[in-house]
Amino acid sequence: MLGKNLMGVLHSSFSRDEVIGWDIEEIDIRKEDDSVGKIEALRPEVVIHLAAYTDVDGCESDKERAFAVNAEGTKHAVLAASKCRAKMIYLSTDYVFDGEKREPYSESDPPHPLNVYGHSKLKGEQYVQEGVSDFLIIRTQWLYGPFGKNFVDSILRQAGEKKTLSIVDDQTGSPTYTIDLAEAICELIQVDARGIFHVANSEICTWYAFGQAILKFSGVNRVRVLPMSSKELGRPAARPSYSALNCQKLKKETGRTMRPWSEALKDYLAAYRQPPADPADK
Ligand SMILES: NC(=O)c1ccc[n+]([C@@H]2O[C@H](COP(=O)([O-])OP(=O)(O)OC[C@H]3O[C@@H](n4cnc5c(N)ncnc54)[C@H](OP(=O)(O)O)[C@@H]3O)[C@@H](O)[C@H]2O)c1
Repeated sequence: MLGKNLMGVLHSSFSRDEVIGWDIEEIDIRKEDDSVGKIEALRPEVVIHLAAYTDVDGCESDKERAFAVNAEGTKHAVLAASKCRAKMIYLSTDYVFDGEKREPYSESDPPHPLNVYGHSKLKGEQYVQEGVSDFLIIRTQWLYGPFGKNFVDSILRQAGEKKTLSIVDDQTGSPTYTIDLAEAICELIQVDARGIFHVANSEICTWYAFGQAILKFSGVNRVRVLPMSSKELGRPAARPSYSALNCQKLKKETGRTMRPWSEALKDYLAAYRQPPADPADK
């Protein structure tokens, strides 16, 4: 999801043959010799590592795969970056935090993951910090965009099928548009930023409020939206009840203020998504 948008943004900022993108068909990050060798052969100046096992609930039942991809896979990317003396960029998550803080997390707050996905991504962060001196760890959250399975599309699809939707109202964060995130990553590269950075659209909401906004901005008013608790939803992985990210460091480093999530959402819907059909018309 993020990778395709990032490739688009990087291709408009650097020459096309300077930026090479690989997916799992070209490189399986779990295989050490193969992935290190392939990256090394390119002699890159920057390695941007987005590959991950991102199914948060799936990670609970397949811990081995979560750590093989998210932790050991990252170790292999780090090894390659280190051999090439390249800058290492790693995408991480708000799920490294437990949500107890109740105000936006800054980069220096101690992580304490609640689920396997968060633990595996945090292990990846540790490999990055131990393995290279020139690194960028970018923690982000609640992504949606034109190229992947995401919450916005899921709500629009369900609105075309149901009259009532129940959405969790006890998890707070900031929905983040992959194009806005890709632009911020590109700027961090251009200013040669180093260290950990939090990047998310500004202003906070719950998934319930986000769902309501998706329907409102799409002109759907026939669907009733009801709040529910995470306990009622009963997903396998525990999620932090509050994981907003403080993005002041990004602003200080690049001058960029991330726009409010509601503005980004309007842009996404206008550019990429049709309002769902009324089920009564089907
Ligand atoms: N989505 C979010 O809300 C969110 C929030 C915070 C942080 N992040 C982080 O941001 C990054 C990008 O997320 P995203 O949502 O764009 O994820 P995504 O759409 O799931 O993309 C991850 C990609 O990694 C690939 N992959 C999986 N295992 C691999 C392997 N062994 N070797 C090489 N590639 C492999 C996946 O291929 P398959 O699809 O074929 O498995 C997929 O193309 C990830 O590092 C993620 O942890 C995401």
